[in-house]
Amino acid sequence: MNLEDYIASIPDYPEKGVTFRDISPLMADGEAFRAAVNEIVEYANQKQIDMVVGPEARGFIVGCPVAYELGVGFAPVRKPGKLPRKTIEVTYDKEYGEDTLSLHEDAIKPGQRVLICDDLLATGGTVKATTELVEKLGGTVVGCAFLIELLDLHGRDKIKDYEILTLLDY
Ligand code: PRP
Ligand code: ADE
Repeated sequence: MNLEDYIASIPDYPEKGVTFRDISPLMADGEAFRAAVNEIVEYANQKQIDMVVGPEARGFIVGCPVAYELGVGFAPVRKPGKLPRKTIEVTYDKEYGEDTLSLHEDAIKPGQRVLICDDLLATGGTVKATTELVEKLGGTVVGCAFLIELLDLHGRDKIKDYEILTLLDY
């Protein structure tokens, strides 16, 4: 199976010059979705993962089935004001302006081994902020797994210190 056949490319969305890589055809196909999740699970199997962490919203789609298969928990990283209990926050620079992500302060126990999952690595800002949240709580990031990497944006330069798995490059 070629997973690339299940990614839709939409030119000039959400703005002119951007090609949006849409994972919803992959999610809509049970076999393709399972194949993608299984690739990440196989990668993670040797790493003694304690928790999977994923940023909203598409990080939930990838991270939750991976956590389920590994038999470990999942912790959501969310935009501010969405998590109901005490949180920690990290603010990071975007192309224009800045953004903040939050995580419940008891989501990760010190020493836990964490796999970060998301659908796509673009500039790397989201995953870098997620690594900072995990580390603030004393967790160890043992890998970052994505369905898609956008090579032109050099996101992996921001997470040089971490192991990275990507299933498809554009
Ligand atoms: C997208 C994508 C990644 C992030 C990648 O999420 O799902 O999380 O951007 O970009 P980066 O590497 O430049 O940080 P988005 O912020 O659009 O949120 P969504 O999943 O809620 O649509
Ligand atoms: N997030 C950031 N850039 C993206 C793109 N080109 N396609 C889908 N999601 C994205």
